[in-house]
Amino acid sequence: MNTIRLGYVGAGYLAQRVHLPNLANLEGVELAALAEVRPKLGELVRARFGIPKLYADHKALAADATLDGVCLSGHFAGQGEIARELLEAGKHVFMEKPMAVSVAQAERILAAEKKSGKRLMVGYMKRYDAGNLAVKWYLDHYRQNGELGGLTYVRQHGFCGDWIAGLDTPFIQTDEKMPPAPGLTLKPGWMPDAFYDRYVGYLQQYTHNVNLVRWFLDAGEKVTVRHVDLDQEKGMAGVSILEVAGVQCVLESGWVDHHAWDEHTQLYFHKGWVRTQAPPLLMRNACASVEVYRKGEGHVTSETFPAGGWTWSYKEEMKHFAECLRTGSPFRSPGSDALHDVRTLEEIYRQYIAAQAA
Ligand SMILES: NC(=O)c1ccc[n+]([C@@H]2O[C@H](COP(=O)([O-])OP(=O)(O)OC[C@H]3O[C@@H](n4cnc5c(N)ncnc54)[C@H](O)[C@@H]3O)[C@@H](O)[C@H]2O)c1
Repeated sequence: MNTIRLGYVGAGYLAQRVHLPNLANLEGVELAALAEVRPKLGELVRARFGIPKLYADHKALAADATLDGVCLSGHFAGQGEIARELLEAGKHVFMEKPMAVSVAQAERILAAEKKSGKRLMVGYMKRYDAGNLAVKWYLDHYRQNGELGGLTYVRQHGFCGDWIAGLDTPFIQTDEKMPPAPGLTLKPGWMPDAFYDRYVGYLQQYTHNVNLVRWFLDAGEKVTVRHVDLDQEKGMAGVSILEVAGVQCVLESGWVDHHAWDEHTQLYFHKGWVRTQAPPLLMRNACASVEVYRKGEGHVTSETFPAGGWTWSYKEEMKHFAECLRTGSPFRSPGSDALHDVRTLEEIYRQYIAAQAA
C-alpha cells in the first residue's frame, strides 16, 4: 500500500477529538504536517500527536510539496476560503462541512477546484456510516426490484441532543485568541444581516440531513423547496417540505434536551419502509440502526447489524479520502455535490425570511 502523506489545517475541537486521533491511527497514512495560527496550541497538539512539522498557517503548509493532500477543519465560514486557497496551491483537500455559507462562495471554491485539477471532498461522515450504507443498499434493492412498490415519502427528523456521548479524548486549550471570523463578508448577498446568525445555525446542522437524504435517493441537484415553516425567534424549529428526486420529503428540525441524539430517517414505500436512527455523532465505533418493514404474507420487520458495523463514520471517511487519493477513484461526498446542499439551505432560508416579512 502506498503511504499517503497528509497535512492538517486547524488544531481545534474537531481536529483534536476526532480527526487527528483517527488519522494518527490509519494504516497507509502519514500525518506529516500541522498548520495552526495559534502557535502555542499548534506546538502542543503537534507534540501530542507526534506530527513532524508545524506551520504557522495554511498558506505555509500549502507550500510543502511533499504532501499528497490536506485535511481541514476551521471556522464554518472561513474554512471555505482556506479550502479554496489550498486548491489554488495545488493540493487535494478534505474539508469539514459546511463547504460554504453561500452559493456564490461554493461556486468560487469549485472554480478553484476545476482550475487546479485537484479534488475537494466534504466531510459528510453520515455517508460513511456502515448503517447508512446498509440503508442505501436496501433502498437501491427495493427500488430496483419493485417488491415494496414505489417510494412515496421521506421523513427526516433531526432534533439533536447530546452529540458528544462522553467522548473523553483530551482537548488541549490555550489562552491564545481565536483568529478573527469572516463576519458578514461571506453571507449570501441577498440576505438581511439580521438573519445571518440564525441561518448559519440552521445551515451548520441541517446541511447533514439534506445531504443524507439526497444521497439515499441519488438526487444530485434534484431538490425543490416546497414550503418552509420555522420558528420566528431562532429560525431553527419547524418543518421544511422538500421534493427530493420527485419524492416528498419532510425535514423536521428542532431541539430536544435529550441524553442521546434524536435523529432518524424513514423512507416509505407503498408496502413497507426502511428506517435508520443515527447514533450520537461522537460515539466511537457505533453505526446507525437499520430497520426494514415489508408487508407481505408474513409482514416482516427486521433489524440488520451491517458487516463492519463496529466502526466510526469519521474514521471511515478519512480512510475513504486516503484511498481515493491513492487510487484516483471518485469521492462519495465531493464538493461538486455539496453545492446542492448549499443551494437547498440558502433556498430554505430565502423562503423562511420571505414568510417572516409577509
Ligand atoms: N461533521 C461534523 O459532525 C462536525 C461536527 C462539529 C464541527 N464540524 C465542523 O468542523 C469545523 C471546525 O469546528 P471546530 O469546533 O473544530 O472549530 P475550532 O474553532 O475549535 O477549530 C478551528 C481551528 O482552526 C484554526 N485556524 C483558523 N484559521 C486557520 C488558518 N488559516 N491556518 C491554520 N489554522 C487556522 C483556529 O485557530 C482553530 O484552532 C466547523 O466548520 C464545523 O462546522 C463538523
